[in-house]
Amino acid sequence: MDTKTFSYLYYKIRGYSDEDIRKESGLSEDEYPLFEQAMQALVEEIRGQQPRAEHIGNDFVQLTRYIYAGKSDQECGLTRPDAIKVRSGEIFPLPAVGKLNFQNLSLQDAIEQRRSLRKYSETPLSQEELSFLLWSASWARDFRSNERMEITFRNVPSAGSRHPLETFVDIRKVSGLKPGLYYYHPIKHCLILLSEDPAIQEAILEGCFRQEMIQNSAVNFIYTAVPYRTAWRYGQRGYRYLYLDAGHAGQNIHLAAEAIGAGACMIGAYMDEAMNDVLGIDGIEEFVIYIATVGKK
Ligand SMILES: Cc1cc2nc3c(=O)[nH]c(=O)nc-3n(C[C@H](O)[C@H](O)[C@H](O)COP(=O)(O)O)c2cc1C
Repeated sequence: MDTKTFSYLYYKIRGYSDEDIRKESGLSEDEYPLFEQAMQALVEEIRGQQPRAEHIGNDFVQLTRYIYAGKSDQECGLTRPDAIKVRSGEIFPLPAVGKLNFQNLSLQDAIEQRRSLRKYSETPLSQEELSFLLWSASWARDFRSNERMEITFRNVPSAGSRHPLETFVDIRKVSGLKPGLYYYHPIKHCLILLSEDPAIQEAILEGCFRQEMIQNSAVNFIYTAVPYRTAWRYGQRGYRYLYLDAGHAGQNIHLAAEAIGAGACMIGAYMDEAMNDVLGIDGIEEFVIYIATVGKK
């Protein structure tokens, strides 16, 4: 979904005047009536969902209590999901985890100094520093696979160690790596280049409502969730855990950033449709859940 469409729908559903909707969505006076016509069915569909949407938070909490839980797919013996998604592209190995050594800052100082940082210096991150950030929040220190279960263990906790998160890496300023969108392979500890197209980086900025830190950062981590990995074991209650798991990744990124003289800011304000489109994911079986920007102080 492009920004025009998003803005049109957002302001329309909120009951803004036609003139305000037109301005907010950057439509010309000529374009507007046609756009309005084209959007009519979608607007009706969204309006139809609104009564549900207004209560979904409380309904979600209430209806994911254990008393409502039926047997999970795991209990029913359904095939186990894979621990990671395989994506293909040119491979870029990262500096080995065992050789990383960032010990300048005590944990106490890292926790105390952490602030959300939204402006970064021009200094690029080194590949060691990038490797360290990925190690802290995404790296799989152990991987076990058999017919009944496939599981990773990482530096962040995860309900049932299901680790439903995947990590996309939007590289802007990292020494020796070309800017582009990469996927991080948590078992092989390498990057897989998905696209060098600058339009993708522009779309990420747009998808995050043009929050400036996206473009002056050294790197943006886009975390997606694959809900079935967790729901296979926990059913609908598993959806609670996706968001908790994402929080752990965010805090480890914050603390690891402090340890390398960088700062981070988390992003929860993004257009779901646009960000899912950028990554080529469907928003149901996999969706963007959290974004972290990181750059040198
Ligand atoms: C779930 C979540 C979503 C956030 N989303 C945004 C965001 O979209 N844009 C932004 O500038 N900051 C965002 N932040 C950062 C908060 O604004 C920040 O943590 C808060 O103001 C407290 O400041 P501090 O982190 O420096 O203590 C987010 C933080 C969290 C935890």
